[in-house]
Amino acid sequence: MSLMGILDRIADVATFDKAIEPARKAVQAVLRPQAVKDLLHGTWLGHPLHPVLVQVPVGSWVSAGLLDAIPRMRPAATLLIGTGVAAAVPAALSGAADWSEQEVGVRRLGALHAVANTVALGLYVGSLAARGQGRDGLGRVLSYAGLGLATGSAAVGGHMSYAQASGASHAATAARALSTDWIDLGPLDDLPEGRPALRPGKGASFDVPLTAVRRGTRVDVFVSSCSHLAGPLHEGSVEDVRGHQCLVCPWHGSAFDLDNGEPRRGPAANPQEKLEVRMEAGRVMARLPGRHE
Ligand code: FES
Repeated sequence: MSLMGILDRIADVATFDKAIEPARKAVQAVLRPQAVKDLLHGTWLGHPLHPVLVQVPVGSWVSAGLLDAIPRMRPAATLLIGTGVAAAVPAALSGAADWSEQEVGVRRLGALHAVANTVALGLYVGSLAARGQGRDGLGRVLSYAGLGLATGSAAVGGHMSYAQASGASHAATAARALSTDWIDLGPLDDLPEGRPALRPGKGASFDVPLTAVRRGTRVDVFVSSCSHLAGPLHEGSVEDVRGHQCLVCPWHGSAFDLDNGEPRRGPAANPQEKLEVRMEAGRVMARLPGRHE
């Protein structure tokens, strides 16, 4: 069986949930202020923050591994290991925030990823302690062990991103199936005022659900699959969130600005795909921008 197949099997093991669920609740309790969660998700950035933050520990530790192989460069390697240890803390916090709002299969692999990273971090802390005591040989053994474990853990994280689509925009995936033509969403007068309505979006081979929100004569149209985990935005609501009129997902409460689709509240970090709209003889016409030049 391939490594990817093994990871898929692990993602199916329900017995892990007995340990994972209390940990998830603990993470959600610790990160309870919504502003803290949004900071860690990357909602303010319009992009998941975790993959940005992990660059520092990964880069520092790989570089330290190379420099440790050159005797005169070992003080620089120690400095880089310390940098990686410090940078691993915010990276772990943002990963934990994302993990606590993911699907069950992602949570199982995420738990494995977290345990491996925690052990790797412990090995690097041990390496720093050994180097501080002048036991440089032991320090190098511990840091290379940490590098090996962190590399394996990165493979698990990659599987979570690429095979399980954690952190990916589910709205962007759905939008790719839309037709490039203007799509007729029916008469303006058929849309309810101030609440989401489901409309079929013509696709190349199948229809893509769209969500239309009417405010007077203005209509905002979005791909219905929430960018977070594909929740049905047409079943959501319209709310004022931090001074912005937003379309709110019924699954985990992500809020997307009606004006531009930017996330104003997480757990979504990716924006929501928004269509451009024009009126034609009292009918609402919509299409994805940027695909027609
Ligand atoms: S699916 Fe999670 S907030 Fe929409």
